[in-house]
Amino acid sequence: MMYARLVRPALFRLDPEAAHEWTLRRLAALSRRPAALAALRRLFARSAPRTVFGVRFPNPVGLAAGMDKDGRALPAWPALGFGFIEVGTVTRQPQPGNPAPRLFRLPASGGLINRMGFNNGGAAALAARLDGTGPLPVPLGVSLGKSKVTPLDQAVEDYLFSLRALRRYADYVAVNVSSPNTPGLRALQDRAALGELLAALRAEASVPLLVKVAPDLTDHALGELLDVCAEHAVAGVIAINTTLSRDGLAPADAARGGEAGGLSGRPLAERAREVVTFVAKRSELPVIGVGGILVPEDALRLFDAGASLVQLYTGLVYGGPGLVRGIVRGLG
Ligand SMILES: Cc1cc2nc3c(=O)[nH]c(=O)nc-3n(C[C@H](O)[C@H](O)[C@H](O)COP(=O)(O)O)c2cc1C
Repeated sequence: MMYARLVRPALFRLDPEAAHEWTLRRLAALSRRPAALAALRRLFARSAPRTVFGVRFPNPVGLAAGMDKDGRALPAWPALGFGFIEVGTVTRQPQPGNPAPRLFRLPASGGLINRMGFNNGGAAALAARLDGTGPLPVPLGVSLGKSKVTPLDQAVEDYLFSLRALRRYADYVAVNVSSPNTPGLRALQDRAALGELLAALRAEASVPLLVKVAPDLTDHALGELLDVCAEHAVAGVIAINTTLSRDGLAPADAARGGEAGGLSGRPLAERAREVVTFVAKRSELPVIGVGGILVPEDALRLFDAGASLVQLYTGLVYGGPGLVRGIVRGLG
């Protein structure tokens, strides 16, 4: 309530990326104040423990990749109620991402469009930061992607470098082959390329390996992807990343809808449910459901569709941390 009445209006007066940066800075400062973290925890953190792919989660609601790419505010997220955190996506090379503006609000639709392009400080910098962070009260996933400068045929080495730098800090590693904002990346979802990538990573990953999928795959392509995941002992699937589709936008957001990039938030909810249902029916793999959780019922629908865990990003922008608490409460 306080978020929607006070915090969101103030943040929405800022440019979207400036609002994101301001929030991360405040949360990073909070992360260094144990008394403030404890107060937040009392307000927001609720428990509903479960164990998935051998990892114990204090509750099943996670922070989706992209919000805290460089792990700047890690202690703050569990204090705001999250039961796990996915940092990244990071790449082998530090990179600036695409030119700004590259993040857009679609308020009438409860959506965002982003073409950030994996702006991040690189895998080595994240490793150094995680070294100094100390133990967290929730599991940490680390999302890996390909550096923009690395040609697609050298992608495997690129991911391997990041895996080696970061595996010791991770409770799971997410293989991001589904961002629409790195040219060619999603070709790594194809059978042969994905098989090669997963075989190499599986041989060196000491932790569960998950694959994050795009919503824009056909059922046939998704089925093939699941076969490849099973062949390479992948521990789970994260469904879904942002979409290139512009279905479901409110008329008031039509102009913004013309921005290039991936769409997230409410317009993604139905497709997220479809893909989670498909993966849960078609394979034995646990699913992390993500996409369009704006109110607690959206999360419950993803659990009903077969998700073992859920994540959110855009819902936090529109709903604030009370949304996380609301979801966990609703689990009974
Ligand atoms: C600004 C922004 C940046 C994102 N960056 C990443 C990323 O680096 N890696 C990734 O796997 N997903 C990234 N995502 C996708 C989210 O993790 C999530 O899959 C998607 O937004 C759908 O969930 P939502 O509707 O709750 O936002 C990003 C999303 C947004 C809005």
